[in-house]
Formats: sequence, structure tokens, C-alpha cells
Amino acid sequence: MKQPADVDLSITLCGVRLPNPFVLASGILGTSETLLEKAARLGAGAVTAKSAGLHPRAGHENPIVVDWGGGLINAVGLPNPGAHREAEVLAEAKARLAPLGVPLIASIFGGTPEEFAEVARIVLAARPDILEVNISCPNVHDEYGEPFAASCAGAVSVVEAVRPLCPIPLFVKLAPNVPNVGRIAADVVAAGADGITAINTMPGMVIDVESGRPVLTNRSGGLSGPALKPIAVRCVYEIAQAVPDVPIIGTGGVTTGNDAAEMIMAGATAVGVGSAVYYRGLDLFRPLCEELAAVVRHHGAKRVEQLRGLAHRSHGVPWKENKL
Ligand SMILES: Cc1cc2nc3c(=O)[nH]c(=O)nc-3n(C[C@H](O)[C@H](O)[C@H](O)COP(=O)(O)O)c2cc1C
Repeated sequence: MKQPADVDLSITLCGVRLPNPFVLASGILGTSETLLEKAARLGAGAVTAKSAGLHPRAGHENPIVVDWGGGLINAVGLPNPGAHREAEVLAEAKARLAPLGVPLIASIFGGTPEEFAEVARIVLAARPDILEVNISCPNVHDEYGEPFAASCAGAVSVVEAVRPLCPIPLFVKLAPNVPNVGRIAADVVAAGADGITAINTMPGMVIDVESGRPVLTNRSGGLSGPALKPIAVRCVYEIAQAVPDVPIIGTGGVTTGNDAAEMIMAGATAVGVGSAVYYRGLDLFRPLCEELAAVVRHHGAKRVEQLRGLAHRSHGVPWKENKL
């Protein structure tokens, strides 16, 4: 992909090179080798497949995604073809992406740590570049079915199960609705995670006052898009404080290059893009690169990497003097 000539937007995540920091987020285009390839050809720096579990799942009935004005709310119910079919699709996607220099991130979920390990073993045969564990799914052993992402112990149990059989960078996708996201990040890194994706959607509900019914068949769902951005930026900032040397894919509400710069200044290395595909179309990656390059230029920098963590350096510095 043609890059802005005077600004280097390339980054690396645990040794995996991305031509630019924009990562298609999980679940946005499903796991279709054709759509993942299309996102890469349209300028995505990396692409994430939809989360796959062990067995095929149909997901919830419509309506499953609703634009409520401040962003999206979704409860799709993790539809997926099951791990074995997923591995076939990922292998085809990898074959198409490799010549483009765009890494493939596989995403998995499970109901127990053992199930995560089983799904990981199956999809790793497709040789993705990075494995992301989506721990926002209910832990079936928990009395209340709380997600693994809700506690340090739950999150760590998944990493301990998957790490020994994962020879590639392992990213853990964290949830925003926890009291101390930095502590969970520190614990999963201590358990062997190489990177963090932050954040998944925020639980919410939207009610249609005409009918008096929740807008989703599942009633509640996950908020994404613009309403999520300040929550995501805060989470990324706290994670970067907790694990400063660990790469973060900052995800949540990024719609413009300015939003991406915020994420990077909060401490992200790469930036996830999900709902913005709905708002701007799949050909948004090149404009996003141009917009981010303009911010890099504005700061008198040459590499996007130079913006990383800038907000952490601003403690006690008068705002006009917070320069690179
Ligand atoms: C329709 C939809 C489906 C999603 N499916 C998944 C999924 O399968 N796995 C996952 O880890 N995140 C999933 N997400 C969450 C996104 O990857 C992302 O973390 C979240 O939407 C916040 O980013 P955004 O504001 O850029 O959309 C989904 C989001 C949406 C809107």
C-alpha cells in the first residue's frame, strides 16, 4: 500500500511488522477470506478474524446490531463455523494476506480454559501471525457465568491454558467493565501474554420508547463506536502504565486519524478499527492513514512510533509545552 511519503506509519507487534497501525477489529467482517483480503487490499495494517469457538454456533436472531445515535449496540451471539472450519478459512486467508505483507490475527473464545486450549490448537494449524484470546465470554465453571475477563484469576486461567501450546505472539483482549484493568493486564502478562488488545465492547441497553422494548433480541448488548472511545482511551492509558513495555492494540471508538492519535498517545502501538467501518465504509483505511500522518507531521515527527505514550509524559507539564 502507498504510504504517506514523509511519515513512517509502520509498526511492529512482538516482531510482527504492520505497514500501518490500523487493525481491523474482530467480528466486524466475520471470518471470510474474501472480506479479510479486501480489507488488506484497501489498506488495513492487519486484520482480525471473528472469534471462533469449538463448535459451530448460529448466533442470535435479528435485530443483533443497532445504531442508537451515539454508537452501535450489538449482541450477535458469537456466530461462528466452529474451530475446524475456522482453521480452513484462516489458512486460505493467510495465503492471500501473506503476499500483501498484512498479518492475520486469529481470535478465539471458549467456555473453559481447556476449551480455549483446544480451539487454539486447532486454529494455530492455519499459521496466523498473532493469536488473540477473546475472554469476554462466560466462564461455564463460574457460579454466575461471569466472563473470564471479569477477574484476574479468570483471565490468567485462559493464558495459562493457551500459552504452552502457542508458538506465536499471544494477545489477550480485555473488557472495560472491571474495577482495575491495569491489574488484569499485569497479571495476564505475568502469566505469559505478549500483548493486550483493549477493549471489547461495554455492556449496555437501548430501549425503543415507541414499543417499550429493548432494541436487541438479546435485550442487552455491547456498546461500540464513538460512545466507547473515552472509556477505551482511559483503559489503554492505565494498561500502558501497568505494563509499559507490552504492545497494546488500542480499540474502541476509533473513527478518525485524530482518534487513533489519542490511542497512541495513551500508549497503544496499534489501533483497532471496528464500528468505524459501518460509519465510513471498508475503504476507510487509507484516509485514516493520511489523517494520522497529518497529526504526526503536526508534532514535527517522522514516525508514528514517536507519538506513543505522549500523554504519559504530560504529568505536571504545562499543556503548551507537551512536545515530543
Ligand atoms: C457487530 C460486532 C461484532 C463483534 N464481534 C466480536 C468478536 O467476535 N470478538 C471480539 O473479540 N470482539 C468482537 N467485537 C468487538 C470489536 O472487536 C471491538 O472490540 C469493539 O467493537 C470496539 O471497537 P469499535 O468501537 O471500533 O467497534 C464485535 C463488535 C461488533 C460491533
